[in-house]
Amino acid sequence: MKVRIFDDPGQASTAVARIIARQLARQPASVLGLPTGRTSIAVYKELVRLRPDFSRAHTFNLDEFVGLPARDARSFHAFMDRHLFCRVNIAPGHAHFLDGAARDLDAECARFERAIATAGGIDLLVLGIGANGHIGFNEPAARLPAYTHRVRLTAATRRANAGPFGGRPSTVPREALSMGMATILAARTIVLIATGRSKARAVRVMRSGRITPAVPASFLQLHRDVTLVLDRKAAEHG
Ligand code: GLP
Repeated sequence: MKVRIFDDPGQASTAVARIIARQLARQPASVLGLPTGRTSIAVYKELVRLRPDFSRAHTFNLDEFVGLPARDARSFHAFMDRHLFCRVNIAPGHAHFLDGAARDLDAECARFERAIATAGGIDLLVLGIGANGHIGFNEPAARLPAYTHRVRLTAATRRANAGPFGGRPSTVPREALSMGMATILAARTIVLIATGRSKARAVRVMRSGRITPAVPASFLQLHRDVTLVLDRKAAEHG
């Protein structure tokens, strides 16, 4: 894994925004995989400022809460519209999401995998990381599903995601849909951003621990083109 360490979260976010903008400049019809979460907000803010041309790009979001329709302000779909898609020239139908309110969730996961394949696979996948080592919503478990799937969220992840739910973890959906580890590892290039002390332990174990489904991010060690973009605090030995 390549590692780039910056003094503060702002510089790390700017570096990731530049990587995305450069990808779009080099290959305007790129297929991007994109994350949500607090860390991504500064990345999207800087990306919007760089005014990249999204007109020929396709994007696939990593995950979505089960039960929340796109119009629900707490859905990841609404998050992406707010922070990125309302502010760039992405073409109608080019921003792809998992529909957490779909009637048949297994069929929805299969549809999403087919859509990624039809688009030609993901060129650049941007990831965040949970303090428990999750990527997307691939939670620590004894076994990990390979492809896009339905997943039960851990108490820690529901707590970490409680912000938009009035700070009440009990109101965070119990389940989510997420790209699987094979979906993630099939991306041609992966960039993971982690900032702050709360991510230091997950970063250390991801980088140098054994590859184990107990730390889903450790599977990134198997990929040949991963760049970790860290601030100093996340890079410290947590
Ligand atoms: C959620 C998302 C992940 C993201 C993680 C980190 O759980 N499903 O894709 O990486 O949050 O979020 P934050 O940046 O808010 O710490």
